Amino acid sequence: MDNVNSEIRNPKSEIEKFAICNSQFGIHKYAVEIANLWYAYPDGNKALSGLSLRITHGEKVALIGRNGAGKSTLLMHLNGVLRGNGKIVIDGLELTDKTVKEVRKKVGLVFQEPNEQLFCPTVFDDVAFGPLNLRFPKDEVRERVEMALKLVGLEGYEERASFHLSIGEKKRVAIATVLSYSPEILAFDEPSSNLDPKHRRMLINWLKSVDKTLIVATHDLDLALEVCERCVVLNNGQTVTDGRSEEILRDEDLLEKNDLELPLCLTACFEFSQKLVDNLS
Ligand SMILES: Nc1ncnc2c1ncn2[C@@H]1O[C@H](COP(=O)(O)OP(=O)(O)OP(=O)(O)O)[C@@H](O)[C@H]1O
Ligand SMILES: [Mg+2]
Repeated sequence: MDNVNSEIRNPKSEIEKFAICNSQFGIHKYAVEIANLWYAYPDGNKALSGLSLRITHGEKVALIGRNGAGKSTLLMHLNGVLRGNGKIVIDGLELTDKTVKEVRKKVGLVFQEPNEQLFCPTVFDDVAFGPLNLRFPKDEVRERVEMALKLVGLEGYEERASFHLSIGEKKRVAIATVLSYSPEILAFDEPSSNLDPKHRRMLINWLKSVDKTLIVATHDLDLALEVCERCVVLNNGQTVTDGRSEEILRDEDLLEKNDLELPLCLTACFEFSQKLVDNLS
């Protein structure tokens, strides 16, 4: 893991210091270690080009970048849905054919497209799939499904057919399929897309409160700023920059070069202060 993350602006965050301390007691320092990962789709389209990244336990990291930058492709490597060339280590366990099942218990992936996640006849079955696979007792499975549906505001949807839900409801069920089995690492691809404002807010509040490693690919830069202390910008399947969200998401030039814009909350602040300056002059 030598050639990793040359551009971390703030390598000794409080979380990283804590992780280094943990590693001295034999607890794995990183939740996710990716070294020199390459991936091309079967049609030859290169999606990841030697990407390296390390994420500490408990960190909340936003992956941002223009359409096609490689965010979803990267997330799909974390639990072995896609397998490229390079090294992926999850909580000290190298991802291989032998370990992929174990890794999937550790990494809960919410796909960008909810139809790829939901395949059971009812919402209950979809959300119960993870806990049943982990052989939780039936009563606990039921409790976990209830808890997960409550967290996404879908109480009472158990007997509905997942395929007959609205797109936003499907996205919330997809999130519940991961929450129900409580993996240590949450890898969420565009979790707020298609959510109405109330349920987007519920999601953000939960993501802020949760005590897990979180990796969120998102174009919702307000969510990234509010939830994630760290932000990684991807382009052409590589990391362009990696640092504190507070800095990166205020860097208009950097954002513009990557076809992104300031988060709306910051745009509103700038506009307000500009009006004040205009009024004073
Ligand atoms: N199934 C596929 N077959 C071929 N190429 C693909 C496939 N899926 C994605 N790609 C290509 O791989 C690259 C990375 O795509 P990816 O979906 O990872 O981007 P992304 O950053 O998630 O974009 P978005 O912001 O639109 O979600 C793009 O060039 C895309 O066109
Ligand atoms: Mg994507």
